[in-house]
Amino acid sequence: MKQTPDQNSASAEKPFLTALRGGRPARVPFWLMRQAGRYLPEYRDLRAKAGGFLDMVYNPSHAAEVTLQPLRRYGMDAAILFSDILVIPHALGQSLEFAEGEGPKLDPIRDGDDLGRLQLREHMLEPIYESVSKIRGFMRAEYFVDAALVGFAGAPWTVATYMVEGGSSREMIHVKSWAYRDPESFSRLIKIVTKATIHYLSRQVKAGAEAVQLFDSWAGVLDDDGYQRWVIEPAKEIVQALRAEFPSVPVIGFPRGSGQLYGRYAAETGVSALGLDAQVPLAHAQELQKKIPVQGNLDPVRLLAGGNALETSCKRILEALGDGPFVFNLGHGVIKETPPEHVAELARIIREWNA
Ligand code: CP3
Repeated sequence: MKQTPDQNSASAEKPFLTALRGGRPARVPFWLMRQAGRYLPEYRDLRAKAGGFLDMVYNPSHAAEVTLQPLRRYGMDAAILFSDILVIPHALGQSLEFAEGEGPKLDPIRDGDDLGRLQLREHMLEPIYESVSKIRGFMRAEYFVDAALVGFAGAPWTVATYMVEGGSSREMIHVKSWAYRDPESFSRLIKIVTKATIHYLSRQVKAGAEAVQLFDSWAGVLDDDGYQRWVIEPAKEIVQALRAEFPSVPVIGFPRGSGQLYGRYAAETGVSALGLDAQVPLAHAQELQKKIPVQGNLDPVRLLAGGNALETSCKRILEALGDGPFVFNLGHGVIKETPPEHVAELARIIREWNA
């Protein structure tokens, strides 16, 4: 494949990285958010052996094994590090538990006085960097030569929602009212998380991550003013720091639910590529794609439903976006009830479109 002089030869050939750098690879690359997880029987087996979710995350052999599981079945163009966005609050000193079927539980931080409890315990994150280098080793050993490894972190706003609410929340009353009532002390929390996130992503890249994604799953719950301050500003700071250290490593921003604000997010944060949720109309996605590579945006429920629901939507997305710099993905993570055969079907549809 043709190479431009400023790209190193090994990575320039991976279609996923070519797309993120604004090029047009020979095929549309694809991967899926939450591609490793409970919809796969081999994941559930290993989880049962390991004990629990966090036991897998902090065990590099388990984490590397689980990362590779979807690639072995479906041959995605990217693997995503198996970890969780909540390891940052955990490493900052908050308690963290994943009770079976209940989602995460943390001891909540509710105001500026609680911030003294937070201090980064670097050693807690070391196993994750070890996972990254182990995954690269597995990928080489199993000849996944065209696939790239994506590192990731939660964006500070989304991570803060869990830190303040103490888990998943519908209304986000605690975190939003703190941010709106006392922006000065809330910005200290965001600063602590931003600094830890820069350090964490930088170490992932040094360990072998070839691109990173910033998950801002709850970007869509803030008003315009809050969005600027708690979504755009921290992402901009993270992108600038990573770009200064690793100029050629792409950063994908995924500010889920940004609606009309996606364009502003792309322009002001300086991310290399934009992850789109399923609500973004394809006509809007095409406008965005004129300015920045895009990734997305199949509704995960279409993957769960399968059949025509899956096929027609995949084709519409490929027709609309497949000729520009594009990475096929879902608009959010794989749902745990998704039949594994439907993922095989999706891989077939993309491969046929590419042929
Ligand atoms: O395959 C991958 O995408 C890599 C691994 C990954 C996980 N979580 C594993 C996981 C990634 C990238 C994440 C990101 C993450 N974690 C986000 C952002 C993306 C999103 O979904 O919006 C968020 C908000 C979290 C926080 C989190 N982790 C929640 C709310 C939950 C519970 C809900 C659930 O699905 O159970 C988790 C648990 C979690 N993270 C699981 C996995 C595979 C399930 C754990 C289990 O095995 O029980």
